[in-house]
Amino acid sequence: MSKPSAYPPLNVQVHTPQLSLLGATDELLERLIPTVRKGVVTGPPWPFDDPMSLYADSPEREWRWLRGIWGGRSKVSESFWRLYFVVMIDGEPMGMQDLLGIDFASFGTVTTFSWLSPDLRGGGLGKEMRQAVLHLAFEGFGAGEAGSDAFVDNHASNRVSEALGYVPNGVSWDNRKGEPAEIKRWRLTREQWAKQRRADIELAGVADCLPVLGIDPQK
Ligand SMILES: CC(C)(COP(=O)(O)OP(=O)(O)OC[C@H]1O[C@@H](n2cnc3c(N)ncnc32)[C@H](O)[C@@H]1OP(=O)(O)O)[C@@H](O)C(=O)NCCC(=O)NCCS
Repeated sequence: MSKPSAYPPLNVQVHTPQLSLLGATDELLERLIPTVRKGVVTGPPWPFDDPMSLYADSPEREWRWLRGIWGGRSKVSESFWRLYFVVMIDGEPMGMQDLLGIDFASFGTVTTFSWLSPDLRGGGLGKEMRQAVLHLAFEGFGAGEAGSDAFVDNHASNRVSEALGYVPNGVSWDNRKGEPAEIKRWRLTREQWAKQRRADIELAGVADCLPVLGIDPQK
């Protein structure tokens, strides 16, 4: 176990019976590099919008991926923040699960972003990762509502949302490899989440992180 960071978001942890989300320190990102280098996305249907660092060729892919995370970490305001977590399975980094506060101070709204090592997909871990980060958002940060967006043909992501009680919230558009593609939008209210709140998920390091994000613990 490495020394806690002076920057509280990097010390936040979420533990479920199957996996842990750990604040994405540079050391953990470095350990994820071989997976990123191998290719998180190797064929259509392309899950991400464009331009996306994970589509570049190696080593540009890894450089852009790291820069994206470093840049994202440094933007923290009432209208936007993004916490990056490395998904640990049996002690090994296997993917990422991010939590984004979008106008959190005004509306308590969050959204999520994730990817898992391709060889581990389809075994229920995607749902477990999302449940873990939703527990952090609703239980730890007092969120009011979570959204999720995915291209219409991203069945795994859309199915994770549907299975966890999100309801459809319209459609929008985004670019994919330079072409417009339809996005399916999902919404999960606090009340809907509470109906399937899990009792076996543990949070750590949350209280110290609240002031960094401007969240009032009394609210
Ligand atoms: C999205 C992602 C993290 C989900 O993780 P996962 O481990 O594959 O998902 P799970 O195994 O938990 O599956 C969740 C549900 O999706 C279904 N599912 C998974 N892959 C599917 C596929 N290719 N087609 C149809 N359904 C699929 C599962 O059957 C399950 O549904 P169920 O609850 O009815 O059984 C993972 O697929 C991934 O990394 N994809 C590439 C990156 C990505 O798309 N990120 C999201 C961007 S919006």
